[in-house]
This record gives sequence, structure tokens and C-alpha cells, in this order.
Amino acid sequence: MAGPSQKKAESNLKFAVTTSLRPAPGAIESAKQLAGQLNFPFVDRDNRSVKYLTALNCADGLLVVSSQKISFLMGKNKFFFHPGLAGLRIKEINNGKTDQMISAMSLKEGQSILDCTMGLGTDAIVASYVTGATGSVTGLECSPLISELVKRGLQSYSAEDKEMIPAMRRIKVINTNHKEYLASLKTGSYDIIYFDPMFRYPRRKSPGMNASRILANHDPIDLETIELAYNAAARRVVMKERRGSAEFVRLGFKYVLGGRYSPVAYGVKERRRTPV
Ligand SMILES: C[S@@+](CC[C@H](N)C(=O)[O-])C[C@H]1O[C@@H](n2cnc3c(N)ncnc32)[C@H](O)[C@@H]1O
Repeated sequence: MAGPSQKKAESNLKFAVTTSLRPAPGAIESAKQLAGQLNFPFVDRDNRSVKYLTALNCADGLLVVSSQKISFLMGKNKFFFHPGLAGLRIKEINNGKTDQMISAMSLKEGQSILDCTMGLGTDAIVASYVTGATGSVTGLECSPLISELVKRGLQSYSAEDKEMIPAMRRIKVINTNHKEYLASLKTGSYDIIYFDPMFRYPRRKSPGMNASRILANHDPIDLETIELAYNAAARRVVMKERRGSAEFVRLGFKYVLGGRYSPVAYGVKERRRTPV
């Protein structure tokens, strides 16, 4: 696993922004705007390969803007926003199946959720669907690149799945470190505060996760962060980890829930019981 000391921090990586080979109208403007916002150089695609442009700009990776999406390319690694299993999980919830995360959160319509580790936003989309238009989901992500790509993806992604789209559009994304954000909150600011940190010991290398793993923060959560979350939560703090992970004990989660055969589990710290 690429731990914090083994991998180059995102702030030390150099990126450039370009377009796809045949940019749609507006793509060049959009790429220039993204480059300005992230403080990366914009480079004309001009029929040149990704490899060539990366080398030409002495960059570690390239952001490629097309009409459908923004892709981050770094060597063989590729990352772009997609809702992952969110659509399937929403269908299963509608078919009456238990979603273990929703169950651990005891999430009800109208509640507010703070997702402290938003990543690609799959869990946030499912939570946003369940809490509905009367609730709210705020996602925190400390990688500037992940948060910007996911923020734009949540606002622009289009799919057949009409139920998922409004849930995606409602999510508010903030690029910040969750510890700093939590320290600024008053008690009861959010009903549920959720953590899904990078696993201390990853399960298996999945190709989809590799590129985002390069950008993601792998630091373990500290006890003070969990205490800040507990103070800021109105109902529950929930943390996902591998089943049997020592992190639950280290961070003081006495109750650990989850499906009997599931490789992951959810630690729960309850402040106030949610009426059933
Ligand atoms: C395992 S991923 C979360 C996946 C997410 N639950 C989903 O459904 O896509 C963990 C994410 O949390 C982010 N992260 C880790 N520490 C953080 C911190 N202190 N503040 C904000 N984000 C953090 C990482 O950069 C990474 O993108």
C-alpha cells in the first residue's frame, strides 16, 4: 500500500490540463477555466498524445477535458468521476434490501449527513437519496483534484437512472481537511457524521481505485478527530472499516455493525437514539 511517506503528496505533483483529441465546442474554454482554478498550465491538445504532452510539460499527470467528463491520467492510472455502485444500492434499497451503511447510520428522510471522507462520492449519493430533498449531505475531501472532479461530476453526470440524479445534484462538496472543519462546528451541527478512511490494509488492488489512491490522503484518523465529530453530531458518528479491524478499538467504537458475510463493518457511536 502506498502510505503517506511512500507516495508523493498531491501538492508536490505537477499536472497540466488539455482537451480530448477532437474537443467539443466549449471544451477548450472549460479546460482553460479548470486549469486557472487549479493553478495548472493549460496546453493545446493539437493532435498530440497524452504521453507526449505529459513529458513536454514535465508533468506527473494530465487532466483531459471532453464533453462527457474530465479524466485524470497518470502513467497507466486513470481516474474520472462515476457513481460506482450507488445506482445498484439505491435499486436494492427500493426493493426492500438492507443497505448496511444506511442501517448503521439509522438514516431517515430529512436528516443531515456530514461525509468526512467523500472520495468518489458513492456513499454520499446513497445517503443523499435516502435523506431526500428535505435532508442534506455535505461531503468533505482534502484532495483538491478529487474534490474538484467529483464536485463537477456530481453536477453534470447524466444517466438513465432518474432517481439518482437529483440525489447527486443535492450534495454539497467542500475541499478541506475534515479535522479542521470538525473543529469549527457547534454541537448538533449534523445528525450523522460519517468516516470511510482508506483502509489501513487494503483488501485487494482494484483497477478503478488505483488512480484515486495516488491522490487520496492515506493518513489514519486520530482519536481527537473522532471526539470532534462526536461533539458535532446530533445523533451518530459512523466509521466504515474492514471487519475485525483494530481501528474500531483504537478509535473507541464499542458497537460494530454489518452483514454477517460482509468484508466491511461499521463502527457506531451514538449520541441520541433515532426513533424507529
Ligand atoms: C476510501 S475513500 C472514501 C470513499 C467514499 N466513501 C466513496 O463512497 O466513494 C477515502 C477518501 O477520504 C479522503 N480523506 C482522507 N483523509 C481525509 C481528511 N483528513 N480530510 C478530508 N478527506 C480525507 C481521501 O483523500 C479519500 O478520497
